[in-house]
Amino acid sequence: MTASIMVNNDMLDIPETENHVHCISIMGAAGGVGATSLCVQIAHNIAMESQKNTNRKERTKEPRICLIDLDFEGGACSHHLDLAPNMSVSDLTVSTDGIDRAFVSALTSTHSSGIDLIATPNSLGGNDMVNPSTIVSLLDIVSQMYDHIVIDVPRYWRPWNIAAIGASDRFIILTELTIPALHLARMRMNAVEEKLGEHIRAEVIINKFERRSFRNALRQKDAETALNRDITATICIDTDTLRDAINCGEPAGVVRPESRYVKDSRKVYKLLQPEQIKSKRSAA
Ligand SMILES: Nc1ncnc2c1ncn2[C@@H]1O[C@H](COP(=O)(O)OP(=O)(O)O)[C@@H](O)[C@H]1O
Ligand SMILES: [Mg+2]
Repeated sequence: MTASIMVNNDMLDIPETENHVHCISIMGAAGGVGATSLCVQIAHNIAMESQKNTNRKERTKEPRICLIDLDFEGGACSHHLDLAPNMSVSDLTVSTDGIDRAFVSALTSTHSSGIDLIATPNSLGGNDMVNPSTIVSLLDIVSQMYDHIVIDVPRYWRPWNIAAIGASDRFIILTELTIPALHLARMRMNAVEEKLGEHIRAEVIINKFERRSFRNALRQKDAETALNRDITATICIDTDTLRDAINCGEPAGVVRPESRYVKDSRKVYKLLQPEQIKSKRSAA
């Protein structure tokens, strides 16, 4: 992660990792653009990659990838992985002194791929009940425990969401290529960057992208003009894969590992790596 950030008098301080992105946060520009699906699939890609790269002897019991769902009212990561969340909204009201590695370990549920999930069951008004400082402390401990973290950040303007974004190495705004979604993407991008200053720069990714050009359809160039920023990547529309994944309660990478969606999500993860970002920024 890139920086220390002060939220509600709590300092969220995350160690920088040189050779890979440590923490990615993803926010949808609008509801339904595919943010949760992408969080789950990127986490799965990382889990598969680390299984490949770690030989059996070196493999420890310690999990390496954590997926965090910060939506305590309408989150869906647990449904995508068919896991029962082990954390409840009341765990997020405890004093920050009680938050340590043992507390965090007790709150995770583990998917067969090795992804550890931190999420609560949905609870009406859940986002109004939690204690912001508790969440910030939890994020701090999680960042020390895991090699990789993916955060599904809801669109609500709450202090812990801003803290999570500010403490991430990469912040993605996921959008569709429609006028309302691009308006919202621009609004969120400007608001987050204004709030966090030089700590963060949003990477804009277009999901459900159609390569064929239809009459009256927007193009990638239109989005770049509207946002005044290059698009980092596009991810194809792949309705069959995504439908199978959600209906099976498995990441797309499990149900259709060779699908275009999964391949595009792997490309996205590569494009977010430090050397790619460095060369893109120096070219700009
Ligand atoms: N690339 C894609 N192609 C086709 N459908 C997609 C794609 N990405 C997501 N979806 C579908 O869009 C819907 C919303 O996805 P979801 O991940 O829940 O979005 P969000 O978290 O942004 O609200 C789901 O039905 C999902 O299967
Ligand atoms: Mg979602």
